[in-house]
Amino acid sequence: MPLYKTITVNDETSLAIWKVEETEEKLWERIELTPHCQNRFNGMKSELHRKAFLSIRHLLAGYGYVDSDLVYDENGKPHLRDGNFISITHSHNFTGIIISTTEHVGIDIEMQRDKILRIAHKFTPFEEYKTLANTAAIVRKLTIVWGAKESLYKIYGHRGLSFLHHIDVQDFRFDTKNTTAQIIFNGNMSNYKVRFLEFEDFTCVYSTRDN
Ligand SMILES: CC(C)(COP(=O)(O)OP(=O)(O)OC[C@H]1O[C@@H](n2cnc3c(N)ncnc32)[C@H](O)[C@@H]1OP(=O)(O)O)[C@@H](O)C(=O)NCCC(=O)NCCS
Repeated sequence: MPLYKTITVNDETSLAIWKVEETEEKLWERIELTPHCQNRFNGMKSELHRKAFLSIRHLLAGYGYVDSDLVYDENGKPHLRDGNFISITHSHNFTGIIISTTEHVGIDIEMQRDKILRIAHKFTPFEEYKTLANTAAIVRKLTIVWGAKESLYKIYGHRGLSFLHHIDVQDFRFDTKNTTAQIIFNGNMSNYKVRFLEFEDFTCVYSTRDN
């Protein structure tokens, strides 16, 4: 059971990360998909994607949920039928979910890759990061900022939200493992707590909306 990590954020919110190491056949054990999800599954060409999708259902089982407890809206955002909040992510062989009884939540796992240096200008005022000691540190920092923005996008769920123009992630130090962020969109402002962790060249960022 490669449940990799669980984190209790507070009494209402927690997350779980899976490291996919099983065969696809093994991952099918004790899993039943809804027709909607089975249909999606059948269309997945990559084995990695199919395994990630199944592993998410094992993470759900850890919270006492089955696939039919999950519904997707027209934007692809997942919701739990019981009204609890959920967010889902997969990146290569890592997958994660965050669940909360009270808070709007978002999660993102990203592999740390130099490629992010080339696209940084599209999602953040890159100049802020040039003071860092080396390229590896810049890649780490940009991956956290990118993951933060993806996790916030998943909470906000509005098409048209620009990572560069509408989401502002406050600068942070690596050792604090958290920061804050703000979305200003269509004249509305909302505030978020952002937390992150790094493992095996991956970054996981998760966020909650301040009420
Ligand atoms: C939808 C999106 C957030 C998914 O993120 P990703 O890093 O590609 O992939 P992840 O594996 O982390 O997340 C996928 C999961 O997000 C969830 N998701 C999909 N659409 C969503 C939405 N509109 N809102 C919230 N969650 C969503 C789903 O649960 C999905 O997994 P599942 O369908 O298997 O359950 C992303 O593709 C996206 O559209 N981002 C915004 C694009 C953008 O503005 N980019 C700026 C470029 S500068």
